[in-house]
Amino acid sequence: MAVRVLFVCLGNICRSPAAEGVFRHLVEQEGLAGEIEIDSAGTASYHVGESPDQRSQASALRRGIDMSHQRARQTKPSDFETFDYVLAMDEDNLRNLQAICPDPKTHNPGLFLSFAPQAGRMDVPDPYYGGPNGFEIVLDLIEDASKGLLKDIKEHHPL
Ligand code: 4NP
Repeated sequence: MAVRVLFVCLGNICRSPAAEGVFRHLVEQEGLAGEIEIDSAGTASYHVGESPDQRSQASALRRGIDMSHQRARQTKPSDFETFDYVLAMDEDNLRNLQAICPDPKTHNPGLFLSFAPQAGRMDVPDPYYGGPNGFEIVLDLIEDASKGLLKDIKEHHPL
């Protein structure tokens, strides 16, 4: 059975769609596209149905990742049953996820950057109101954590 991964931020237009795109790219490079299913969502509904933010798309495209087909959706309680990994970009997102988690004993959302201990931080900073450099920082952090996440999946799941 496939391992399912959900990336979560606030709007699902900047950070979590980039995480989805970067992680999918890595998984495809490793020939594991059939074994790992990947999605992203936002805790808020402001941008549901929208394409990723143009700045996020541009930063990802410079690294060979096309996010143009992705559309924003909101998180829902059933996501905890569907996905093996529910990974928040920051502590606020994590608190919002915990608030809708139907059974915290069985389902345990976490922070994406826990898979990049070398980054020395736990939050992927919200780039929405900042300049273009914020998106480069976001992509760098996401690339690091994606490698750590794939390593963790390989260690814990027979692929
Ligand atoms: P994201 O960024 O959570 O990384 O998608 C944001 C997108 C939209 C807003 C805030 C953050 N907003 O306030 O609309």
